Amino acid sequence: TKHIGILTAGGDSPGLNAAIRGVGKACLSHYGMHVVGFRDGFRGLMENRTTPLDGGQLSGILTSGGTILGTSRDKPHKMPVGGKLLDMTDAIVANYHEHRLDCLVCLGGGGTLKNALRLKQKGLNVITLPKTIDNDVAGTDITFGFDTALGIATEAIDRLHSTAHSHHRIIVVEIMGHRAGWLALGAGIAGGADVILIPEIPYDIESIAEAIRERVRSDKPFSIVAVAEGALSKPELAVLKAASAKKPARGKPPKRKADDAEADAAELLYADRTLRLAKQLERMTGLEARVTILGHLQRGGTPSAADRMLATRLGTAAADLIAQGRYGVMVAARGEGTRAVKLEEVAGQVKTVPPDHPWILSARRVGTNFGD
Ligand code: F6P
Repeated sequence: TKHIGILTAGGDSPGLNAAIRGVGKACLSHYGMHVVGFRDGFRGLMENRTTPLDGGQLSGILTSGGTILGTSRDKPHKMPVGGKLLDMTDAIVANYHEHRLDCLVCLGGGGTLKNALRLKQKGLNVITLPKTIDNDVAGTDITFGFDTALGIATEAIDRLHSTAHSHHRIIVVEIMGHRAGWLALGAGIAGGADVILIPEIPYDIESIAEAIRERVRSDKPFSIVAVAEGALSKPELAVLKAASAKKPARGKPPKRKADDAEADAAELLYADRTLRLAKQLERMTGLEARVTILGHLQRGGTPSAADRMLATRLGTAAADLIAQGRYGVMVAARGEGTRAVKLEEVAGQVKTVPPDHPWILSARRVGTNFGD
């Protein structure tokens, strides 16, 4: 009998419980394996904190948000322990063996893929499922969580429309997505945003202001600007690039890593970016502007039907791979089916929106401004 461990890592996402159920029920009932859950991502595996998943725990969770296992962003090789970041990979490997696991199923996004690959390189059998509202995982058509978040952000834009219209205002709505624009683009299109700003298309504020002024001239003195949390203007991007290019003087060891300088510059730029944008647009158009930051609302609550189906499909496909002894892969959604993609092929890659993506082309056809 095979022994399977399941954990959820990284930011939570609607559909995680549906995926846990899919993997768990297929492994237990269909294949007769043993299944155990680890709490709070890789931290729970390190600390040997488990949840039994061999009984009723898998029932009644298909429709619930969050993750019954809990999650964390802790990485095996940089685990906060006693105020320090320590490499706890060996403890994780030891616990994997103590539980006599044949496979560890990790439900997560880009960070989880990298961590899973490290564990694979330590000789563990791992399988990952692509989860994130950001939809930025390479090698899969789509990630679970995205469709639900898309619905929430779209509904928010719908609601903002009526109030923007009544008050003749600009409403700038900030949408999650990390450094990818999928969610803002999708919700912007579905919600009919007048301007959509995404990280993949650096913007020019004058182009946005002119699009809004043109709407005023056409007797539409209100506008919705959907801005991805990772979007930056051309000058802001130049600041970021300059910070990341800073090299230490020749022969001198760097006091701080270039990565740190880039992270600091990014933090400054992204903090209040949306408020700055709204203020500038207010000055440039003469319309009042308001800001709505959707934040973690986009990750909460019950998963959409599409996410429940996707998570179930990917979860049960993982169980099939385990039964066949095929490990070291991510289960990707491809068309109507699934495909096992080697972790090496996708770990460390971010799937961003190609600027000529069909969604962008069609949005341009209906007059959406991208600030370029
Ligand atoms: O990856 C999902 C996500 O919600 C991103 O869209 C966002 O940038 C980030 O997580 C927020 O992280 P946290 O939950 O740590 O605030």
